[in-house]
Amino acid sequence: MMALSENGKLPPPQHVAIIMDGNGRWAKNRGLPRTAGHKAGGETFRRIANYCRTIGVKYLTVYAFSTENWKRSQEEVSGIMTLLERYLTEALRDMEKNRVCFHFFGDLSRLSPKLRKLCEDTQSRSSEFHEVQVNFCLNYGGRDELVRAARAFAADVAAGKRSPDSLSEDEFANYLDSAGVPDPELVIRPSGEMRTSNFLPWQTAYSEFVFMNVLWPDFRPEDLDAAIEEYHRRNRRFGGA
Ligand code: IPE
Ligand code: IPE
Ligand code: MG
Repeated sequence: MMALSENGKLPPPQHVAIIMDGNGRWAKNRGLPRTAGHKAGGETFRRIANYCRTIGVKYLTVYAFSTENWKRSQEEVSGIMTLLERYLTEALRDMEKNRVCFHFFGDLSRLSPKLRKLCEDTQSRSSEFHEVQVNFCLNYGGRDELVRAARAFAADVAAGKRSPDSLSEDEFANYLDSAGVPDPELVIRPSGEMRTSNFLPWQTAYSEFVFMNVLWPDFRPEDLDAAIEEYHRRNRRFGGA
């Protein structure tokens, strides 16, 4: 067992990734519209991002909207987009207080110009904060990310900057949205579903997965502590004996 840190807790992994799932069921259980669940999920995200900064997680990657989530009703999708606009506007306003550096993973080109501008402003204006980096996955799909990376590499080959034979795993990783970010040691999926739903397929090849029976709006800092404790009970072998 590892040594406890000052607060009496096990040290967190440097990179935690979370599939923020269960908003719809949370709302349904309360007889509320699904959008109310997304709003509550946004509050949870705010609390957990701050908690990650407090306990010393360096990178927090969250799945907020997938390339498949466009299949939902127009009402739900536009509700989520409106909440995201509101959320990022507040993040820009409260930046000094929250001290979180934002990055965005995913194909932002399909978002509205307004939301895209908010993403760009949030990323550039938060770059001075170095305690915790949040990678916000928006219109993100793991397969889409790999295809975009393959296209970018092919374009470099066509331009004569690269040769196919020279490509290594490390170099390919530099074409991904996560370029420069270490792989997550721990992936948490609340809501009881036990699948990855196209989240970070390349980066999680050797991550530890913790599936939890709590809906995302109900997820508390203690749940993150519990997932970290579970992570410390795992025996990571990376293919070794
Ligand atoms: C996750 O919650 C949020 C998004 C996918 C945008 P869900 O909306 O998937 O909630 P459930 O899974 O229906 O409960
Ligand atoms: C994954 O959850 C995407 C996000 C949390 C943003 P989904 O609710 O979309 O995944 P499925 O449909 O249960 O696989
Ligand atoms: Mg879901």
